[in-house]
Amino acid sequence: MKITVDGPAGSGKSYIAKGISLELGIPYLETGLAYRAVGFLLLKQEEGLEEVSWERIQPLLSRIEILPDIGKTRIFIDGLEVKEELLRSEEVGRAASVVGTVPQFREYINELFRRLIGNRQAVVEGRDAGTHIFPEADIKLFITASPEERARRRWKQLMDQGIEADMKEILEKILERDKRDREREKYPFRPAEDAIVIDTTNIGPEESLEMALSVVRKAEDGKAP
Ligand code: C5P
Repeated sequence: MKITVDGPAGSGKSYIAKGISLELGIPYLETGLAYRAVGFLLLKQEEGLEEVSWERIQPLLSRIEILPDIGKTRIFIDGLEVKEELLRSEEVGRAASVVGTVPQFREYINELFRRLIGNRQAVVEGRDAGTHIFPEADIKLFITASPEERARRRWKQLMDQGIEADMKEILEKILERDKRDREREKYPFRPAEDAIVIDTTNIGPEESLEMALSVVRKAEDGKAP
């Protein structure tokens, strides 16, 4: 069974995608990590995020390896596994969203994702997993939540790590990232027409995962002989 899980930042999609992967024992491909790995390498260059282009991205790609595993997507740069925290910062997230505006990269990476997974069962999480990577997926989930709630979750996450943060600033950044994702000229972010939408604004992670798993179980029952 191939399952796609798409949605904006802070919607709770990663928790759900990871949970499904663990429950079903099938590989988890978190596509955002590939965008983040490229963003991470760009930030290390002198030009930083100025004039991000395919010409700048292409030479970096042979340094990055992606390994979908059960409950986790492993990323290697220059042969060494990257610690997740390095890729999860706000700064790298912003860089990833700039990388996402380069259509040649999207075409390249989506082709790579398709080759990585092939005909295998997998949970594929991102922005365009159900629309562009695996439009033929058995189940397409679209996870969403209000921007205010997504900002509150991010704020709480930072506070729990002992990092002072300003909620208004976080909300502005979330809105900016949403806008860049939705308004990019090629491959704008939108739900697949046949996606099942789960709005997590008023429900916790466990309950959201349960809802997603019940959709999966129903589909599995429907497929059983
Ligand atoms: O999913 P995550 O928040 O880690 O992704 C970081 C950024 O990478 C997103 O804001 C988006 O701009 C970009 N991205 C994308 N398409 C994907 C995954 C991520 O454009 N499939």
